[in-house]
Amino acid sequence: MKFFVDTAEIEAIRELAATGLLDGVTTNPSLIAKSGRDFKEVTAEICAIVDGPVSAEVVALDHATMMKEAEILRKIADNVCIKVPLTVDGLKTCKALSSEGTMVNVTLCFSANQALLAAKAGASFISPFVGRHDDNGFDGMDLIEDIRLIYDNYNFATEILVASVRHTMHVLQAAKIGADVMTAPPKVILDLFKHVLTDKGIEGFMADWAKTGQSIL
Ligand code: E4P
Repeated sequence: MKFFVDTAEIEAIRELAATGLLDGVTTNPSLIAKSGRDFKEVTAEICAIVDGPVSAEVVALDHATMMKEAEILRKIADNVCIKVPLTVDGLKTCKALSSEGTMVNVTLCFSANQALLAAKAGASFISPFVGRHDDNGFDGMDLIEDIRLIYDNYNFATEILVASVRHTMHVLQAAKIGADVMTAPPKVILDLFKHVLTDKGIEGFMADWAKTGQSIL
């Protein structure tokens, strides 16, 4: 499963990229607002740090203006992936862009039927929001299972990008289902490294090593 980080904070992206485990980045208008940075400028910086897809979201609601915005955004770097909402205009834009070979991430997906539409529109990625689904009394992971089944039934190339990830269990469940990608805030990705027995084990080994009085270097 590929790991994307869901943030527009440059330092957090640098820190995760240095682990060698980061496959891409997702942003959205709320994350850009939170960063306080100029959208195009920060997107260019992110694209220079990470080789993989960097999702940059259009903010227009009509197809013609979405296309104009996408034209500007995709010129920022070769790894920009245009993010469009799951609406009629969003999918028209997805179809047009993907036909030209531009990567498209269809966002704000909350049903398997919506995911089916996005795949038919040639999306590179579909982003079902599991956390927001859970918040509203549904099981976000049931949605991922349904989309996996449908995409496998028809061999769709669209990658399932599990979004709105809130905790490490979401990551584990997404991997067990066979999602292609997950995007999570930096904290959730860093939490994946943690285990109390790893810390305790290191503590014990260090204490015993000190008793030997030896040095490797
Ligand atoms: C995905 O691309 C979105 O940016 C993101 O995962 C939304 O997550 P949230 O529900 O925590 O805002």
